[in-house]
Amino acid sequence: MRNWLSSLFNRETLMREERLHLLAGTLPSQAVALSGGIVCACFSVGKNKIINAIREQRLASVEAVGQCLKAGTDCGSCLPEIKAILR
Ligand code: FES
Repeated sequence: MRNWLSSLFNRETLMREERLHLLAGTLPSQAVALSGGIVCACFSVGKNKIINAIREQRLASVEAVGQCLKAGTDCGSCLPEIKAILR
């Protein structure tokens, strides 16, 4: 959500659908698809971002993912999903 919101600040005008999602506090389906779905709600980290970090930076543990993206470093409820992605 954060990435989508911050991307709107660079634009002069917003489309009708974007304004509606802003008012409703929801993500447009394209943003959800790009993120692959949020895995870590505490830091708004999506599945695709985690997968890309694991591949590009050769991360091999939940601790390494946490150091890189902060995912899993607050409440910890996303740790099982991060472990599953690592597998
Ligand atoms: S949901 Fe990931 S640390 Fe809370």
